[in-house]
Amino acid sequence: MRVVLLGAPGSGKGTQGERITKKYGIPQLSTGDILRKAIREGTELGAKAKGFINKGELVPDLVIVGLMAARLAEADCRNGYILDGFPRTIGQAKGLDEILNKMKFRLDAAICINVSEESVVLRLGGRRQCSKCSTIYHVEFQPPKKTGICDKCGSELYQRDDDKEETIRNRLKIYRSETAPLMDYYKDILHDVDGARDPAEVFKDVSSLIEKFC
Ligand code: AP5
Ligand code: MG
Ligand code: ZN
Repeated sequence: MRVVLLGAPGSGKGTQGERITKKYGIPQLSTGDILRKAIREGTELGAKAKGFINKGELVPDLVIVGLMAARLAEADCRNGYILDGFPRTIGQAKGLDEILNKMKFRLDAAICINVSEESVVLRLGGRRQCSKCSTIYHVEFQPPKKTGICDKCGSELYQRDDDKEETIRNRLKIYRSETAPLMDYYKDILHDVDGARDPAEVFKDVSSLIEKFC
């Protein structure tokens, strides 16, 4: 089961990815989460990525494809994975094709979650994320039981540095120019989902696509 999740910043890729992992037992590989962890841990990768992330720009393809080539070769990826936030340029999609060809695998589906740009700004403004296990919350739409604390592991929630309105606008602009062209690249395996509903409703569509095409 090898699935790419596409969709604008804040469309719900991370939220749906968590549900997919829970139901189907395959790992969710979020390049954003991997990069934020590297920044927190002060690694070389983190140092390379920080400036780009905080401006809402993309980290260079070479860095991302190298990172994912190593990650996809790990043992937990043997039975499949859900890709969240990768690829997000045509260059990365070609890099992924090369990695998959070498491993004699192919993608089963690309699922695009669609939401309006206005609702993205609302969603990202209220998002909180766990500093330890990366679980996603929203102060209004998906609040934790105890304010500021993760339901799953008890760690503190934080607000992402790139979730400021001005940075969100830049991320949306880059999404339109760099990532939206992937819809055409993946047109043979692409499925659209209406993301402007309750996460559980969205997940019904996502899981029925997975069951049909994977
Ligand atoms: P990344 O972390 O991938 O961010 P993104 O693509 O901007 O997407 P988000 O994580 O913001 O949104 P999401 O779709 O996961 O939504 P979520 O489920 O959290 O990338 C960040 C940065 O890292 C990039 O800008 C770039 O610099 C760098 N980077 C990462 N990957 C890269 C790559 N491949 N190449 C180059 N650079 C890369 O939901 C959002 C909020 O909405 C949450 O609060 C959630 O609770 C709420 N919500 C979700 N679903 C619903 C719903 N149905 N109804 C109501 N609220 C909802
Ligand atoms: Mg995300
Ligand atoms: Zn947690």
